Amino acid sequence: MISLPPNTELMADAEATARAAAEHLLAMAEGAEGERIAICLSGGSTPKRLYKLLASPGFVERVPWARIHWFFGDDRVVPWDDALSNVRMVREAFGHAAPVPATHLYFIPSDHGAEAGARAYEKTLRDFYGAAELDPERPLFDLVLLGLGSDGHTASLFPGKPALSERRAWVAPVPEAGLEPFVPRITLTFPTLASSRSVLFLVNGASKREPLQRLADGEDLPARHVESAGRVTWYVDRDAAAA
Ligand code: 6PG
Repeated sequence: MISLPPNTELMADAEATARAAAEHLLAMAEGAEGERIAICLSGGSTPKRLYKLLASPGFVERVPWARIHWFFGDDRVVPWDDALSNVRMVREAFGHAAPVPATHLYFIPSDHGAEAGARAYEKTLRDFYGAAELDPERPLFDLVLLGLGSDGHTASLFPGKPALSERRAWVAPVPEAGLEPFVPRITLTFPTLASSRSVLFLVNGASKREPLQRLADGEDLPARHVESAGRVTWYVDRDAAAA
């Protein structure tokens, strides 16, 4: 078995990962103090099972939908109805069963390119937060969900790309993705992801063994740089952990 990141919980399979993540989200929401709960969603394929589960019987009645505001950690610069769009993935996963108030889903604009979309989303985040600077004592997100790419990227923070070193902007354009799909992206930057009460990585499948091993070997991969005001937790299934 690969040596895993600190605060890793080993999951039997992808379904177990999704169920544990749903319970983690519900426990966070139950303990959240403010009226509004801000959750930053991960894209890609792994989290779709979680999002579907939240909208399914047994969970949908437990989620405080009226309090939760859903943001995106990144997206591909494609139309929202494109098969590559994280907006489409989340909409399909939540379906009609999840009673999400329309004003509580904050999609990353993708119709005017990466630069304009990043600027627009940064304004969305600042308007929600109510300040132009992130205060370490007042995290923007209650929970940030993240995935791990086979190259060690997370959100759309790819190895060797300029967005990795962005420390002032809350959101950055990524004109050239470092992994398929090779379309421009828009991503939250490390300081914005760090403005969180907790971070949860969901990592399933044998294709993630290599990035996990490279992290364990101390390689300077983007996922290593994710911080939080609270705890960074990893849910890794046995396939990914080679357990
Ligand atoms: C995206 C995600 C990205 C994803 C990883 C893992 O938009 O693709 O934000 O960071 O989390 O690439 O993707 P999978 O879950 O599909 O393996």
